[in-house]
Formats: sequence, structure tokens, C-alpha cells
Amino acid sequence: MAMHVSGACFSVFSGSRVGNIKAVASEGFATVKTAEDKVKLGGSDLKVTKLGVGAWSWGDTSYWNNFQWDDRKMKAAKAAFDTSLDNGITFFDTAEVYGSRASFGAINSETLLGRFIKERKQRDPEVEVTVATKFAALPWRLGRQSVLAALKDSLFRLGLSSVELYQLHWAGIWGNEGFIDGLGDAVEQGLVKAVGVSNYSEKRLRNAYEKLKKRGIPLASNQVNYSLIYRKPEENGVKAACDELGITLIAYCPIAQGALTGKYTPQNPPTGPRGRIYTAEYLRNLQPLLNRIKELGENYSKTSTQVVLNWLLAQDNVVPIPGAKNAEQAAEFAGALGWRLTDEEVNELRSMASEIKPVVSFPLENL
Ligand SMILES: NC(=O)c1ccc[n+]([C@@H]2O[C@H](COP(=O)([O-])OP(=O)(O)OC[C@H]3O[C@@H](n4cnc5c(N)ncnc54)[C@H](OP(=O)(O)O)[C@@H]3O)[C@@H](O)[C@H]2O)c1
Repeated sequence: MAMHVSGACFSVFSGSRVGNIKAVASEGFATVKTAEDKVKLGGSDLKVTKLGVGAWSWGDTSYWNNFQWDDRKMKAAKAAFDTSLDNGITFFDTAEVYGSRASFGAINSETLLGRFIKERKQRDPEVEVTVATKFAALPWRLGRQSVLAALKDSLFRLGLSSVELYQLHWAGIWGNEGFIDGLGDAVEQGLVKAVGVSNYSEKRLRNAYEKLKKRGIPLASNQVNYSLIYRKPEENGVKAACDELGITLIAYCPIAQGALTGKYTPQNPPTGPRGRIYTAEYLRNLQPLLNRIKELGENYSKTSTQVVLNWLLAQDNVVPIPGAKNAEQAAEFAGALGWRLTDEEVNELRSMASEIKPVVSFPLENL
């Protein structure tokens, strides 16, 4: 089943054109090497790089990759993984529902990430990788035990005995109290270092935080759709609640699935499901903002992608996790770090972006 919801940003078990990515001047890349380049995830002891990499597209044939997965795409995804590490980005986000299970030769994202880690460790035993994965609150899953069972399956696919961050992917229609208990059990059993939620509204976030706090466990993060053109977390109380409670906001779709990179234009919209969201008309309305982003980037010798990621980093308490399909994309992300837009530029971009109608996102964030 594939479920596409606008910014769609989402597919359940299995839902482009790859443009030329310009070579970017090497000074555009920052290399993250030291502990100071990391941030603590909420009140937990876990430290992650200021920017992570999303692995939703790895192995996926329901939303990404023009519905096809092959060896060439697999090698490109592996290169994205290796290049991220080479540039000091060690935080990777996957989920049990990412990638596909058994269609068109596709493969689950956790399985691929696990393979990439294993292969890298053979060459480089000291390499450090921080893994975040997620529990799917499917309606037939109930109780704390279902969280532990799903986590163990994820660990099996990843080939790991524990992960750094385990997140509830979305709030269940029911059973949420049990899911939060399950997160706490996972910490106490040493299967995860930190726990978080995703697509949680302010109210649910506060409840989850309080419930875990009673067990002495910090809720580390809330992963939500957040980008220059999707600023709902600023409007629905989620960003403010994260800041108040000391919960890190992990920003997904931070480059609006490629729409903010400047490579898609009204004449060249994305193909596949994204083309229904970022239509020629939508991209036409986006042009003035994209032109200004490009212009600002030129002043800093940065690409548009690096500018929009830097805009998110400037919001503080935000860790963006852009998705990378290949080495070039992964390398470009690292160049979003190590510099900062001025406050005037940050405000100017927000004000220009407020002219753009946001896409419809994952409806469960409103539950
Ligand atoms: N919790 C949730 O419900 C949820 C929902 C969605 C995503 N996520 C997480 O957030 C991650 C990021 O979100 P996302 O992948 O949906 O969207 P995104 O990061 O905004 O966009 C990623 C896409 O943009 C294009 N791209 C990447 N780098 C580029 C570059 N340097 N220049 C030009 N184009 C570039 C690539 O597609 P093309 O090359 O095909 O254009 C890539 O697949 C996911 O991988 C996943 O881990 C979580």
C-alpha cells in the first residue's frame, strides 16, 4: 500500500528526474570532525551532528526512484552514506516503513543502512555511525510489547544490537499510552540510547514528555516537516514547545523534496508523485523566492540547497535531515554547516516565503 499525502513525505510499507548537480567549490564544504560540531539531542546524553541524512529513498519504489530500484541506485545510495561520513556527517535517519519489501527488486532502507554500516566498518573499524529509526503505529499494533517487538525486528534488519534513537513515526489512532511505555522499556532494556516522537502535535508532545519524565527518561526529539516553505511548526506551537521543554526538533523534508534546491523549474518539474505536489504552477510561484535564495548563496559562495539548510539551522534547536540519493547530494549538505546567514537575511527569506502557500503535509501531524 502506498499513501501519498502531499508534501507526502510518507509511504506506508510499501510512497524524478535526477538533475545535474553543479560541482560546488570545495570551500563550500565544511568538514565536521570534532565533538563541538555535535549537539545534544534534547535532554538525552546522545550527541548527533548538527545535520543528519535521511534514508527514506534508499530502496524505495513506492514514492521515490521512479518506482524502480536497481544496482546503480544502490551504489549511489551507498556513496551517499560513505560521502556523508567522509564529510563528518554521522547521523542517519531511517524507519521500518522506508524502502520496500518485495517489489521490483526493491529493498528495505534499514537493511541497506545496516549493510552500508557493516561494509564501512570492515574498512574502518573505528567509524562512528549514529542510527535513528522509527516505529510505525499501525492500527493493528497495540501495547508496549508491540514497540519492543518492532524494534527488535528493526535491529535485526540493521544488524545492530542497539540504535541511538528510536522514534514513534506518528501518533496511533489508539494505543499511544502503551507506545510511550514501550519507548521507556526500550531505553531501560539498553536497546536504544534515546527516544523521540515524530509528527506529534504540541498537545501530544507535552503528554509524551510528561509520561516519560515520570520514569526519568527525557523525550529527546520530535521529527516534523519543517522547511522555509513549510513553517507549520512555528505556527502550531510545536517549535515553541520543543524549545521550552528542551526537545530537539528534527526537520524532515528540509529542502522540500528538492523543490527548494533550484533544480526544478516550471519547465522541468519533478516526475512521479512529487510532480503532483510541486506542480509547474507551484514552481512558478516559487521563482522569486528561489531567485533570492540563489543570490544570497552567491554572496557566500554557497548553493541554494546550502542556504535553505542554513536557514533551518539558524532557527536553533533544529537538526535538519535532508535525504541524499548520491554522493554529490550528500557532499553538498555538509556545506550548509560552519557559516550563518545574518538575522536580516533569515527574516527576509521568511517574509518572502510567507507569500507561498504551503503544501498539504502528513495529516496525522494534526491528530
Ligand atoms: N517522520 C516522517 O514522517 C518523515 C516524512 C518524510 C521524511 N522523513 C525523513 O526526512 C528525510 C528527508 O526528507 P525527504 O527525503 O522526504 O525530503 P528532502 O530531504 O527535502 O528532499 C530530498 C530529495 O531532494 C533531492 N536532493 C537532495 N539533495 C539535493 C541537492 N543537493 N540538490 C538537488 N536536489 C537534491 C533528492 O531527490 P531528487 O534527486 O530525486 O530530486 C532527494 O531525494 C527522509 O529521508 C526521512 O528520513 C520523515
